[in-house]
Amino acid sequence: MKTRITELFGIRHPIIQGGMHYVGFAELAAAVSNAGALGIITALTQKTPELLAREIRRCRDMTDQPFGVNLTFLPTLASPPYPEYIQAIAEGGVRIVETAGRSPEAYMPALKKAGIKVIHKCTSVRHSLKAESIGCDAVSVDGFECGGHPGEDDIPNMILLPRAADELKIPFVASGGMADGRSLVAALALGADGINMGTRFVATQEAPVHQNVKDAIVAATELDTRLVMRGLRNTERVLTNSAVEQLIEIEKARGANLKFDDILDKVAGVYPRVMVEGDMDAGAWSCGMVAGLIRDIPSVAELVDRIMDEADQLVARRLSGMLETVAA
Ligand SMILES: Cc1cc2nc3c(=O)[nH]c(=O)nc-3n(C[C@H](O)[C@H](O)[C@H](O)COP(=O)(O)O)c2cc1C
Repeated sequence: MKTRITELFGIRHPIIQGGMHYVGFAELAAAVSNAGALGIITALTQKTPELLAREIRRCRDMTDQPFGVNLTFLPTLASPPYPEYIQAIAEGGVRIVETAGRSPEAYMPALKKAGIKVIHKCTSVRHSLKAESIGCDAVSVDGFECGGHPGEDDIPNMILLPRAADELKIPFVASGGMADGRSLVAALALGADGINMGTRFVATQEAPVHQNVKDAIVAATELDTRLVMRGLRNTERVLTNSAVEQLIEIEKARGANLKFDDILDKVAGVYPRVMVEGDMDAGAWSCGMVAGLIRDIPSVAELVDRIMDEADQLVARRLSGMLETVAA
């Protein structure tokens, strides 16, 4: 399939694997890129720029296809050394960066100087337009359904994507709730040039996370995610578990007085315990409503091929069949 996104990134299929803390290691990124989609390493999971440089080298050993790096700009006071991370990305020969969180504006000159194409993840049309105005090459439009941080506007993709299509000139992918060929065709119909998936890629054979995580996603329904940290304007969609239910009780009790410290043990340092140790009640970890559509743990190549075959069948048979005029 050819879209503005496949052309921009030099990939065969218009599918991107979004950055994911403690999931986006070289193994997954390489598997996704080898399948003809765009794999992404998550920079901040690597504790230092040197470790990121090593992860990029590991990924390059596993694939000769294009892959990217996710750089998440956190809402924290103690900022990671972003310029050094960008240097590691540039020197590692990576030419695609997915930015997320706060605006990448301050880092655009360095990224552009290194010849890097930037796709910024946005949860609103106004942020997407801002990304376009500061020179981003594409955006990933993340609807209310998404795993991770859906922002504070709560606009689902059925509205957000056509709104983005009406306003944006640069290409964009639909993110949040994407799982299969139906998602891809719907996203294209709504004006996107491809899809970005997080949760669906966690439940694959190559995702280097504990089996308990994959099993939990397969077992979950679309009713099993919760929004946490809304009171801190840092809303995150997570899979429910006992720690998340306790967190929500604390949020209710503290109300407008909620401080980050009140819930620290439920949200900080959780990812290694969940993703590495498989302790599913360790705390809050991102998961999308799309878990309700995920029923198996295929290899990445099987998943990508299945999505493309299903999209092909949908367009060539189901949709075009509906247009056929019935002979008299
Ligand atoms: C376990 C997990 C961890 C994530 N970590 C990050 C992250 O560190 N940075 C980021 O920009 N997005 C992160 N995301 C969001 C994804 O990149 C993607 O935007 C989102 O999952 C799309 O929604 P979906 O899960 O419905 O496909 C994470 C998502 C998941 C499921």
